[in-house]
Amino acid sequence: VSDRIAIAAGGSIGVAFAIVFARAGFTVCIWDPDQERLNLVLPEVKARLDDLTTFALLDESTATIASRIKVSSDLAQAVKDAILVQECAPENVDLKRDLFGRLNELAPGDAILASSSSAMPVSRFAAHLAGSSRCLVAHPCNPPYLLPVIELVPAPFTDPDVVEHAHDVYVRAGLSPVLVRKEVEGFIFNRLQGAILREAYCLVRDGIGSVEDVDRAVREGPGRRWSFMGPFETASLNTRGGIAAHAQKLGPAYARMGAERGQNDPWTPDLVADVARQLQDLNPGESWADRVAWRDDQLLQLARMKRNTTSTSDEPAGRPAAR
Ligand SMILES: NC(=O)c1ccc[n+]([C@@H]2O[C@H](COP(=O)([O-])OP(=O)(O)OC[C@H]3O[C@@H](n4cnc5c(N)ncnc54)[C@H](O)[C@@H]3O)[C@@H](O)[C@H]2O)c1
Repeated sequence: VSDRIAIAAGGSIGVAFAIVFARAGFTVCIWDPDQERLNLVLPEVKARLDDLTTFALLDESTATIASRIKVSSDLAQAVKDAILVQECAPENVDLKRDLFGRLNELAPGDAILASSSSAMPVSRFAAHLAGSSRCLVAHPCNPPYLLPVIELVPAPFTDPDVVEHAHDVYVRAGLSPVLVRKEVEGFIFNRLQGAILREAYCLVRDGIGSVEDVDRAVREGPGRRWSFMGPFETASLNTRGGIAAHAQKLGPAYARMGAERGQNDPWTPDLVADVARQLQDLNPGESWADRVAWRDDQLLQLARMKRNTTSTSDEPAGRPAAR
């Protein structure tokens, strides 16, 4: 018998999570309080699975994967025997507090209660529960069946074993968990997105670039690299000598740009050394030149894919015309 996952609310994210878990072989039950919405869930699941099939991204047929997904208007029935409940209800603190209270009563005692909340830490709506130690935020990117990162954000009251167990379940589901060690606003990826978007607004406001040129500057350059490596590895591979050399050469310029925006967060020698050590530990035995060759190989593959799938515009090819 495959492990069961319950999805509490079947909107955009709920449906997308159902696809993630069912694709990986889990049995899924989706609950939603709105019967009209519930009626739309399975047709939506099938349409999205068909999209994935069109792009040869599934190992099984739409019918086989969809057969693992059920819907229910009864929350108690939906969470029965679940190992994990993925809460995907609207982003409203009172609503989530009430729902977590019900989930804590109805779900099996050892089930993980994970919230998809984009912005609210679990402390804001589960601290009062007797079962608070099994609660955490597991924040996906949208849609999670195409963008695998999921941010695990435990509260101080979350049991570390629960975090580890949740990590294992998401890995089994084909997701890529990131641990957010403190409940900061925006977690990790929205803080990173926010840093870029804040600067993008300033560049347009100050007449330095048009919207099109700011977007193009990301899309045709750093964005392509960021599709397979993060800002630390990018910086490290851009400078012979790696991240420490990068910080030494370019740190002062970046500090001036930060100061222009009222930011004063110096890259101290200790901080740079810590980052350099962590980067080194990620790819032990690989030289800087090996990693540069790997980066270029990734860029070659992307260039080939773009050449094969786009003409002069950025419109994706391959999608059936009728939608
Ligand atoms: N959409 C995104 O890009 C995105 C990305 C990451 C995380 N999230 C988070 O996921 C959660 C769900 O977002 P969404 O985009 O799927 O929203 P949505 O509006 O598409 O879906 C919400 C669902 O909740 C149901 N609902 C309404 N009232 C409810 C109640 N009182 N109790 C339980 N369910 C109720 C609705 O019927 C609907 O099906 C939010 O916390 C959101 O912040 C969204």
